[in-house]
Amino acid sequence: MISHFLYLIISITLWMQYTSVYADEVSTAKNKSIEITKGINGLDKVVLSQIHGSTVELYLYGAHVTSWKNEHGEELLFVSSKAIFQPPTAIRGGIPIIFPQFSNLGPLRSHGFARNRVWTIDNNPSPFPSKTINGVFVDLLLKPTEDDLKIWPHSFEYRLRVTLGLNGDLIMTSRIRNVDTKPFNFTFAYHNYFSVSNISEVKVVGMKGLDYLDNTKNRTRFTENRDVITINSEIDRIYLSTPKKVAVLDHKKKQTITVQKDGLLDAVVWNPWEERAKTIVDLGADDYKLMVCVEAAAIGKPIILKPGKEWKVSQKLSAR
Ligand SMILES: *[C@@H]1O[C@H](CO)[C@@H](O)[C@H](O)[C@H]1NC(C)=O
Ligand SMILES: *[C@@H]1O[C@H](CO)[C@@H](O)[C@H](O)[C@H]1NC(C)=O
Ligand SMILES: *[C@@H]1O[C@H](CO)[C@@H](O)[C@H](O)[C@H]1NC(C)=O
Ligand SMILES: *[C@@H]1O[C@H](CO)[C@@H](O)[C@H](O)[C@H]1NC(C)=O
Repeated sequence: MISHFLYLIISITLWMQYTSVYADEVSTAKNKSIEITKGINGLDKVVLSQIHGSTVELYLYGAHVTSWKNEHGEELLFVSSKAIFQPPTAIRGGIPIIFPQFSNLGPLRSHGFARNRVWTIDNNPSPFPSKTINGVFVDLLLKPTEDDLKIWPHSFEYRLRVTLGLNGDLIMTSRIRNVDTKPFNFTFAYHNYFSVSNISEVKVVGMKGLDYLDNTKNRTRFTENRDVITINSEIDRIYLSTPKKVAVLDHKKKQTITVQKDGLLDAVVWNPWEERAKTIVDLGADDYKLMVCVEAAAIGKPIILKPGKEWKVSQKLSAR
């Protein structure tokens, strides 16, 4: 009799445990989704979420990715503690889109204007053969305004697809079309700011034997002879004709971020270090310790785009 009673109690307890765990799993299971919401200062923001919990956030202002989190909710991008989310200032950190001019390599203000414009969501993008299975993505579009055409007299359509893959990879594909009657040239970068635990312990790999232009030395050309780049002072280099993959190793986090480039020959490595950081108003004094920029770029050979032609490139960021 007693044993029968005990058996019943145990069964009920097990059943309750099972159902509560089950209910918990169902209620916390995250679905793949895309949400359009408001971010800082009421600016329009898109949030992409994947089943396993990874997320990407981007502002329509600049088509600027400001957050990329893995499935544990850990932030992989750096955003300045003093970032200004207020047009026309570009957001300091995340992934600014640099177009149509990198740095001061042309007549425009530094880094062009794509990062200072409000993009639109493109609900009807031109056909896009996507290789990313189970990705959640958003398509954005930028066309020049009358004012833009006064400073850069070239009609273009810039389509950006931002995809969060099932495995948490962040894929950005750019398609820039010349809809003008004359060719135009431009330089370009995905200006990735990665979050690091301690800049002194970070390694950047993939540049051995490559030539680079040193922006701290009037873009003098040097050759990299190190396997592994460590950073202990200001660094601002355009590595030319880099391999498809470059990586940032963070020993303390036991994490490697890989930048896989398609159609982008160059890679910029930047950290302002202490003195230069003081001259950047929207960067916190100690922020340089927590960031490194490793950018996928087309700078060494400006892109020349003929009328009616489209330039298509992409980067895939993975954190493991
Ligand atoms: C996930 O999506 C399915 C199918 O659309 C839906 O039935 C379910 O309620 C969703 N779950 C959550 C937690 O949103
Ligand atoms: C394009 O080329 C012209 C002349 O060849 C140059 O003056 C200009 O700075 C270039 N523009 C960009 C954005 O690279
Ligand atoms: C960062 O790393 C350097 C070199 O290993 C070390 O001297 C410094 O104390 C570290 N800083 C922090 C905040 O851990
Ligand atoms: C930098 O390089 C340019 C062109 O190569 C040259 O005209 C200029 O004088 C140089 N400036 C300095 C400070 O060396």
